[in-house]
Amino acid sequence: MQTVSRLDMLRSAVDALRAGGGTIALVPTMGALHEGHLTLVREAAKRAEHVAASIFVNPRQFGANEDLDAYPRQLQHDSDLLEAEGVELLWAPPADVMYPEGYATNVTVAGVSEGLCGADRPGHFDGVATVVCKLFNQVRPDIAFFGEKDWQQLAVIRRMARDLDLSQPEAGNIHGVPIVREADGLAMSSRNAYLSAEQREAAAALPRAMRDAIALLSDRADAERTLGNLRAALSVAGFDRVDYAEIRDADTLAPLDSDNGNARLFVAARIGGTRLIDNMAV
Ligand code: PAF
Repeated sequence: MQTVSRLDMLRSAVDALRAGGGTIALVPTMGALHEGHLTLVREAAKRAEHVAASIFVNPRQFGANEDLDAYPRQLQHDSDLLEAEGVELLWAPPADVMYPEGYATNVTVAGVSEGLCGADRPGHFDGVATVVCKLFNQVRPDIAFFGEKDWQQLAVIRRMARDLDLSQPEAGNIHGVPIVREADGLAMSSRNAYLSAEQREAAAALPRAMRDAIALLSDRADAERTLGNLRAALSVAGFDRVDYAEIRDADTLAPLDSDNGNARLFVAARIGGTRLIDNMAV
């Protein structure tokens, strides 16, 4: 695997892959890789001849009070994992290559960015859209892979690709990969590493409460009452705060008060200082 950290080196490495023929898939990450990321790489390898990954802890998507400095950085370990999966190219630029002195451009995606995580983390999706737009322009992959745990992020990225007429990759070639879960149902996330043993045990209440809510909603239970019960169950389990528990249309992310046949349940909740998110089809 070739690891590059400068744009001219990246361009030569991508040209060399292209010269060999076949399609290039990109798996963008912020590192701290877990099984969920490796699943993205494996899916990418099924769909493209060459797999490239990026590791960049993007400061623009962290709020002032968020954990940018504490975010786990383990480049050597991550590159070993990627290499073992057959990734051919790792793009790992430093912050001043991604955002050189004088950098001034921001990508804002209205609509799908609003509400849910967009409400709790102002500016977060501008940071995501900006860096992913740059990663796409830098690597120019044919296809790209993102985890469905960040469902709203995926919606934002697809909207951006459509709106900006991106061709590498086209919006239709931006693929979501289903959430990978621990044995007790907790969605895999780099943030799970922040949980103490006790918090980790309590965190399993999140997917459990969501599944219970979905079972009730399928029996046509009242949505408001069901979401109220879900919040209460999380509080009893030891969560300190529920940022949101909402049912939305899976594609447009428009708020729903009942199942429209394409509904999804979205929850963000905090346990200690750690914010966990999850989503499931209703
Ligand atoms: O999901 C992530 O890891 C990040 O938000 C992404 C897409 C790599 C952009 O920094």
